[in-house]
Amino acid sequence: MAQLPLLYLPSEILRKKSHPVTGYTAQKYHSLIRDMGETMMHEKGIGLAAPQVGKNIRLTVIHTKDGILALINPVILRRSLRKIMGEEGCLSIPGVFGMVKRHGKITVSAMLEDGTQKVFNAEGLFARVIQHEIDHLDGILFIDRTKKITAGKELLKKYEAKK
Ligand code: CO
Repeated sequence: MAQLPLLYLPSEILRKKSHPVTGYTAQKYHSLIRDMGETMMHEKGIGLAAPQVGKNIRLTVIHTKDGILALINPVILRRSLRKIMGEEGCLSIPGVFGMVKRHGKITVSAMLEDGTQKVFNAEGLFARVIQHEIDHLDGILFIDRTKKITAGKELLKKYEAKK
């Protein structure tokens, strides 16, 4: 078991579009998924994407009520027209929070940790986290989408000044 070092704004890696995972086997990815899950739990996050630990691959872990869910190559197949405003933060932008509009309901296709392909519906916070994490895989951060920073405005300026 190991915690992985997190990358923070303005890391270049956070801004790259990640590559699909190819040749997935549960054995090959077991320790990365476990370590990402451990890192997320330790940092008290509800989601973590591979670029945040320095890997530009399309893999994310999400903390759900049933435990840690790994999504490999997740794709959103359907989005509700209705969008819901909610507050978001990000482990890679500590201390900064902002309001972001996200689709209320989505249908997602992804490979699970056991290598099976699954299609499922998500709504509420679960749908929000998935959209936030898939954004990470495309190099997009919630600060790109926010209309209103609710906390950490000065911190954000400081992070961005490091560029
Ligand atoms: Co994030």
